[in-house]
Amino acid sequence: MTLTLSQFPHDFAWGTATASYQIEGAVSEAGRGASIWDAFTRVPGAILDGCNGDIACDHYHRVAEDVALMTDLGVNAYRFSIAWPRIQPTGAGPANAAGVRFYRDLAETLLERGITPFATLYHWDLPQELEDGGGWLNRDTAFRFADYSASVVAALEDVVENWITLNEPWCSSFLGYAAGIHAPGKTVGTEAAHAVHHLLLGHGLATGAIRSAQASAQVGVTLNLYSVKPASGSEADVDAARRIDGLSNRLFLDPILTGDYPADVLTDLGQTDWFAAQPSSDAATIAEPIDFLGVNYYSRHTVAAGDLESPTEASSYPGSESVLFIDNGEPRTQMGWPIVPQGLVEVLQLVEARQPGLRTFITENGSAFDDVPDASGYVDDTARLDYLKDHLSACADAIEQGLPLAGYFAWSLMDNFEWAQGFTRRFGLAYVDFATQRRTLKQSGRWYSEFLNSGHRSRRT
Ligand code: FCB
Repeated sequence: MTLTLSQFPHDFAWGTATASYQIEGAVSEAGRGASIWDAFTRVPGAILDGCNGDIACDHYHRVAEDVALMTDLGVNAYRFSIAWPRIQPTGAGPANAAGVRFYRDLAETLLERGITPFATLYHWDLPQELEDGGGWLNRDTAFRFADYSASVVAALEDVVENWITLNEPWCSSFLGYAAGIHAPGKTVGTEAAHAVHHLLLGHGLATGAIRSAQASAQVGVTLNLYSVKPASGSEADVDAARRIDGLSNRLFLDPILTGDYPADVLTDLGQTDWFAAQPSSDAATIAEPIDFLGVNYYSRHTVAAGDLESPTEASSYPGSESVLFIDNGEPRTQMGWPIVPQGLVEVLQLVEARQPGLRTFITENGSAFDDVPDASGYVDDTARLDYLKDHLSACADAIEQGLPLAGYFAWSLMDNFEWAQGFTRRFGLAYVDFATQRRTLKQSGRWYSEFLNSGHRSRRT
């Protein structure tokens, strides 16, 4: 079936997404403090191409041009993140006026173009001083995050109403503190679960603080959810799927939406006693009602039970290191992530099962492929275009099934600094020539623009 705009609600949010450290550059300007990514990118071998976000897409100096690119695309929403160390260079204290001004200018420019801002308060750039004090392993960081959130919202409450507390706490905790492949590069094993708890506590505290600062706020949190399937019906493979679904999805969805951590996952982690020793009021704080859930959907995991030898390497799945991730024959992106559009519907069903009627947004979805630009910078990215269309079709299916999906943000507006992979992975709807900073819409971007503009035309007639 051909995809048409009429399959989506008339007030659907059509957007693209980015994150501060991946695009802004200007890391030492206007009083910005250092973040854990400034430090981590200096660690030899941490980043595939040895690069860092010092300049990235130079977005800090190109806001007008980048918002014009969004206008070309025809989006009505934009998800960006606020760099905590621009607002509080050391992670505490009054808001830095120059930092606030940058995001105010961005939000005002968006509003002038009819684009609704969705601001993420934490997309991984923790002020380094807070990491020096233990980072997310320290309970106090949750309270620092709530203070920071309150001061951002108080400063921008007349220009931003849609707030996302955290982006992908799974990555912050397990990639950052267990696998050590993201900043801050720690490998504390199953104790990374303490970071999960403090991140979620920070989310809950911030949600309350945002509501106190702005009565009209719409508050949510973004989780990276996965479709998880056992490789076979064997008991051992089904148990492997239970473990990975537990660590990836349920450990986050359950406390936020139902108020309880999944007991089996805490057992897998060997952290039951630690969680039991936390203040009993934390559960209600973490389950503070939200207005929407942001879902980042990229892929499916097919898993099988492996052997039980003790792990030798730090894992993103501490306590479940023996689980094997199986190649199920699905096509993959350049990240190696299997392409399974149907999984998008499945993860929305996970949300619906826990809190029927809760509005969701796909706050990220996209693909990396090895783009080859022609002399003008144009890229025929058919594979990315197919990925985009197929996942939008999955969104249409979800809506048809009655799931309350309210928007879609393509990752990403433009090629950018892809964390541990540096500049070797391009996810943009626009190609960026990093030598000249020229942005050129790819075939996928042109298609998205035609698709979104087809709606404006039919609305006018
Ligand atoms: C997500 C991140 C985002 C981007 C995409 C590819 O995990 O939230 O910043 O790197 O992956």
